[in-house]
Amino acid sequence: MSLENVTITDAEFARFQALIYKIAGISLSDAKKVLLTGRLGKRLRYYGFDNYSDYYRLVSSNTAEAELQIMVDLLTTNETYFFREEKHFEFLATEILPNHPPGLAFNVWSAASSSGEEVYTLAMVLAERFGLAGNWTVTGSDVSLRMLDAAQRGIYPLERTRGIPPEYLRKYCLKGVRSQAGMLLIDPAVRKHTRFLQVNLNRKLPELGPFEVIFLRNVMIYFDTETKREVVARLVRQLRPGGYFIVGHSESLNGVTEALRTVRPTIYMRP
Ligand SMILES: C[S@@+](CC[C@H](N)C(=O)[O-])C[C@H]1O[C@@H](n2cnc3c(N)ncnc32)[C@H](O)[C@@H]1O
Repeated sequence: MSLENVTITDAEFARFQALIYKIAGISLSDAKKVLLTGRLGKRLRYYGFDNYSDYYRLVSSNTAEAELQIMVDLLTTNETYFFREEKHFEFLATEILPNHPPGLAFNVWSAASSSGEEVYTLAMVLAERFGLAGNWTVTGSDVSLRMLDAAQRGIYPLERTRGIPPEYLRKYCLKGVRSQAGMLLIDPAVRKHTRFLQVNLNRKLPELGPFEVIFLRNVMIYFDTETKREVVARLVRQLRPGGYFIVGHSESLNGVTEALRTVRPTIYMRP
């Protein structure tokens, strides 16, 4: 029998919806059936399963933690790029950083950092302001181990680095040679200010802060209102009073929290 196109029943899909919601808080609408089978189909083929119930039984058993992580990795959407929604980085450079008391540490958290582009964009902006010897850090975290691995390497195909201004390319990036030709490497002098950790926003958070700025961009779109409320409440506790909380351009904290005040759309501050 061909395993190319295993179909999923409504009941099977509902079980995966409940599982990914329970783990990562991700709400997969009924319209995401094709997305789910497109992404998990290869795992069925890998195991030689001819139905989704067998795969569900596997990932929900206590002994299949590694496969469960692979499933989470496959069901997250990881699109990102350097200087995405660049107005946020302009705001950081022109409104936040100049008002920071000189000499005091400046710590930023990119709380759904995917493959690291947001972290390194932040790092280049901070390096520009405080210098490579400055007292600043950028923490990146994500639920996807595959993305964290990529982020930690700090190596990107040149065609994915177009958003980086030429002077930042010159100062903070290295062009790959020989086996790394066609790639761009984030300079180790920048990388040493960064760290990456696995953090599931849908669970109790480790104490990582306090932070001057938290970026939580383009992940709340996958959460329902209840999950957004819980996630934002957990993160705000790690933001310093006077610190900024920044969400994606299509996201808003309306009805999500009372603990932040709007500075401008998508940019909030903890009073
Ligand atoms: C679309 S990317 C956003 C990347 C970046 N913040 C940006 O705006 O370009 C969304 C990321 O959120 C992560 N994510 C989804 N649910 C999560 C959770 N419960 N905890 C932590 N990260 C999560 C995904 O793995 C994915 O890498």
